Amino acid sequence: VRTLKLAVIRGDGIGPEVVDEALKVLHAVTPDDLVIEETPFSLGATRYLETGDILTEDDMSAIASHDAILLGAVGGDPRDPRLAGGIIERGLLLKLRFAFDHYVNLRPTKVYDAVATPLAAPGAVDFVVVREGTEGPYVGNGGAIRTGTPQEIATEVSLNTAFGVERVVRYAFDLADRRARKHLTLVHKSNVLVHAGALWQRTVAAVGAEFPDVTVDYQHVDAVTIHMVREPARFDVIVTDNLFGDIITDLAGAISGGIGLAASGNINPDGTLPSMFEPVHGSAPDIAGQQKADPTAAILSVALLLDHIGRSDLATAVTRAVEADLADRGTTQRRTAEIGDAIAAAATARTTTA
Ligand code: NAD
Ligand code: IPM
Ligand code: MN
Repeated sequence: VRTLKLAVIRGDGIGPEVVDEALKVLHAVTPDDLVIEETPFSLGATRYLETGDILTEDDMSAIASHDAILLGAVGGDPRDPRLAGGIIERGLLLKLRFAFDHYVNLRPTKVYDAVATPLAAPGAVDFVVVREGTEGPYVGNGGAIRTGTPQEIATEVSLNTAFGVERVVRYAFDLADRRARKHLTLVHKSNVLVHAGALWQRTVAAVGAEFPDVTVDYQHVDAVTIHMVREPARFDVIVTDNLFGDIITDLAGAISGGIGLAASGNINPDGTLPSMFEPVHGSAPDIAGQQKADPTAAILSVALLLDHIGRSDLATAVTRAVEADLADRGTTQRRTAEIGDAIAAAATARTTTA
């Protein structure tokens, strides 16, 4: 019997609603030889506004003692001046990604049969974005002077290291090599961001030499938005930097039938630190507390978690149950918990008959 110590951060807005359904499905597929030990951490904007704490050293060391993290979403009402400047997003979400060295942000996209997508004829869409998670313009490498004056100068310098680019590119090649189509697309903006672009391109060429079976192409990030809408089936594995990856995965979510379906894993492939699984979407204050959120993205994030811990059998049970539920979805709007119940029931049926 194996024990999985799971840190659970339900977070803000729709976070708690979708995490409850994700846990429901996780429990439904958990077999006798796996024990899930959950520790709840109440973190997020709500806790910050009550206590002034975002993520203490004690929180960090407690979370670090877990095997994995499941996170709903964090971030409060964007109009609240006390939360300005992404204080929660940076102090909590990005801090966890950086501290636990989540250098791979894995964001798969699939267009499921029977799901209404905004695209007329999407074709067989099944690609994975490998978004770098610890560098780029996200590191806070910048500053402002003469703030508030007409002479204000603000910089936000993108950080790209040979070490950081190499390890994520290698992960992406390795992933592409294990997939049927064995194709990798590097996405950047090397016609303008020449310094970082050159490092990414050189690294892809060098690492690619070790993967002779993987075909490679390069696309500028602006052009990718065209192809993703017009012909998304052409993509297999996309590797890109932190910010480009953020932007194109919201687009990927939208073409696949909604951001409520998009799952992600913040992976520490070395396995020494806990990886974190979370839907791509945020706390959606506009629909929070109304049982209107689609919990599918959080549930599919549990499938990524199960894959990560080597239980692809259970991950498959979850994704099959989601596929069955998506195929059944009519036009009537179901409550968050109803969707979770239906997927949990389908997943249970699958694991008990397997
Ligand atoms: P958002 O993803 O929260 O919402 C964008 C739109 O998608 C909204 O209309 C929302 O109602 C809808 N939506 C999102 N998830 C949905 C779901 N599961 N089912 C149905 N509809 C869904 O993005 P935003 O409005 O830009 O951000 C809101 C807050 O969340 C901000 O504070 C932001 O910083 C934060 N945020 C957090 C995370 C995270 O915790 N990982 C990710 C993105 C944004
Ligand atoms: C995401 C979110 C985060 C990001 C924000 C909330 C910091 O948009 O997970 O995609 O930009 O990575
Ligand atoms: Mn995002």
